[in-house]
Amino acid sequence: MMFDTVIKGGTIFAPEKSFVGDIGVTGEKITEIKESGSLEGTYVIDASGKYVFPGFIDPHVHIHLPFMGTNAIDDHESATKAALVGGTTTIIEMICPGPEDEPANAFAEWKGLAEEGCCCDYTFHLAVVRFDDLAKEQLRGLVENEGVQSFKIFLAYKGALDMNDENLFQLMQLCKELGVTLTAHCENAEAIDSMQKKLLAEGKTGPEWHEPSRPRSVEADGVNHLCSFAELTKATIYIVHTSCGIAVDRAIEARGRGVDVTVEAVAPHLVLDKTYAERPNFEGAKFVMSPPLRDKQEHDALWRGLAIGAVSTIGTDHAPFNFKGQKDMGTEAFTLIPNGIPSIQERVDLIHTHGVCTGKIEMQTMVDVCSTNVAKQFNMYPRKGALALGSDADIVVYDPNFAGTFKHEDGLSKIDYSGFEGMERKGRSDVVLLRGKVVAEQGNFVGELGAGTYIAR
Ligand code: URP
Ligand code: ZN
Ligand code: ZN
Repeated sequence: MMFDTVIKGGTIFAPEKSFVGDIGVTGEKITEIKESGSLEGTYVIDASGKYVFPGFIDPHVHIHLPFMGTNAIDDHESATKAALVGGTTTIIEMICPGPEDEPANAFAEWKGLAEEGCCCDYTFHLAVVRFDDLAKEQLRGLVENEGVQSFKIFLAYKGALDMNDENLFQLMQLCKELGVTLTAHCENAEAIDSMQKKLLAEGKTGPEWHEPSRPRSVEADGVNHLCSFAELTKATIYIVHTSCGIAVDRAIEARGRGVDVTVEAVAPHLVLDKTYAERPNFEGAKFVMSPPLRDKQEHDALWRGLAIGAVSTIGTDHAPFNFKGQKDMGTEAFTLIPNGIPSIQERVDLIHTHGVCTGKIEMQTMVDVCSTNVAKQFNMYPRKGALALGSDADIVVYDPNFAGTFKHEDGLSKIDYSGFEGMERKGRSDVVLLRGKVVAEQGNFVGELGAGTYIAR
């Protein structure tokens, strides 16, 4: 049989095992996988000496993001070209409406923008900020009719995106009823607000004060709080961008009490530490995100969590704000620096370089936490997240021997800096296929603009 495309002789990471073999693709699907086989195809990709992975999935991305008085700088085209070049073939974008916005309008707005520009496949977590009767009715409708399967809440950003306990408890009851996963930014909006005011009053205005305004205990408190409500409501929860060991511990303790909780890490927290945000001349602003970058020892806590399965996924929390014209809105007060450190393009290579090449995690763990576990957690498996018969032919041929450094000039995001500039880079997505079509080669986007599809879940 002649396949449309054959990926030949690579080390294939199939569910449960890896082996050298060939993959046959027909149309948009994987139609054959042969161990030490010899398939024939119209188009043949030589993968010898390389790894063959399922397309990576980023569970935490912001593209259209009106936030802190500005908008994230990427559009769906730039962000998803960057994603594909870095081996990410599906993203889950956070829909983040304001407190006055109706959820149904927000969903339509975000989906419309994604339909126009997304070059990779996409789906959404819907942030719930407004929670009156109309919003509740619309949330039900979006779950029933539009394939929305996960909501998002912020226990942070007082007065902008945060949610009070009355609404949180009711929302979690609704999540349980609808079978929806509640993803959550876990901090404590009130504590942060008080600490920010105190620091500013003391004249502590620079980006280096961002971390002290929301220390680890604030994050652990948010995790505890959410877990307590989950214990009572039996809602399924997913804690996004967990930055430190004690926050992971609080979640795992709750898991021991029967709480259905999953923990996400994001790339910046695994490789950057709080000294970056302490860089002089306001350069630290490039490294302001929430929860903040922590002490270096927290990297080990997170890697250990990943290695033992306490932390199940790695996303990016891609939230790009230019240094000039956006981050510098906060020169007078760190509380006005738009929060975010983008890494949609760099994620997989950062995890390969800092996790796999250092022996902190196995290659199989990288595949699981950056792809398979995300697909399973968010109801896309095995269509996504697996090299298996019948799965979408989202495939990454990965060159582990590529060696270089991370450079802003290689980035396809519109951001004006790289948080990883000059850092060592080991590995590169050599060829990336999205539903059977080659969309990226050796760091270049070669796909079709706007060819991404919405994954209703
Ligand atoms: O700093 C961050 N994380 N910015 C994006 C918004 C959020 O909290 O996820
Ligand atoms: Zn967040
Ligand atoms: Zn985020």
